[in-house]
Amino acid sequence: MTLLFATHNDHKVEELNQLLPDSISLISLNDIGCEVEIEETGVSLEENAKIKADFARMKFGLDCFADDSGLEIEALDGAPGVYSARYGGEERDMDKNIQKVWNELKGHQNTRAWFRTVFYLRLEGKEYVFKGRVEGSIIFEKRGTKGFGYDPIFIPKGYQKTFAELGDDIKNKIGHRAIATQSLIKVLGS
Ligand code: IMP
Repeated sequence: MTLLFATHNDHKVEELNQLLPDSISLISLNDIGCEVEIEETGVSLEENAKIKADFARMKFGLDCFADDSGLEIEALDGAPGVYSARYGGEERDMDKNIQKVWNELKGHQNTRAWFRTVFYLRLEGKEYVFKGRVEGSIIFEKRGTKGFGYDPIFIPKGYQKTFAELGDDIKNKIGHRAIATQSLIKVLGS
């Protein structure tokens, strides 16, 4: 089956397609020529995933799927959370986002954090929500060149290296999106 993934991020589509069985293939908003940027006005990952899936369902009348993810830091009461992409400013600059995390976390002993993702699926008139989470901690230097976002400052629990050092092989096993994808596959494959 082919399913619309309500995102313009082809990197994400490729990442998820690698995790899905060959029988399921995702296409992006770019693939169907949709240039509209869906505004993420929700105050939670759950709300934003639903907004994106509902938009695509209404506009194109297709079954579809959307996601929203973020980094949540315990000592910062869950920030940057839903604002992860623009924590350091509307220009969505990752260097500024990371610098702000370091500034806010300065002086805290507790560096516990986790990535969380929410998938929202609209399929044949039904709605499904799937969640994934990976625990870890924040470090005060950047390490590694793989991945994206906060990967260079996040060490997953049980490892000594950051996600940016570990790379996709590990992320595809223990990562937040990988975990949510397992639940997605169960529904799509059934
Ligand atoms: P999105 O909803 O998946 O686009 O994620 C929003 C923001 O959360 C991204 O711009 C990143 O800053 C951060 N983020 C989400 N997933 C990851 C990840 O796997 N590694 C690093 N940062 C992430």
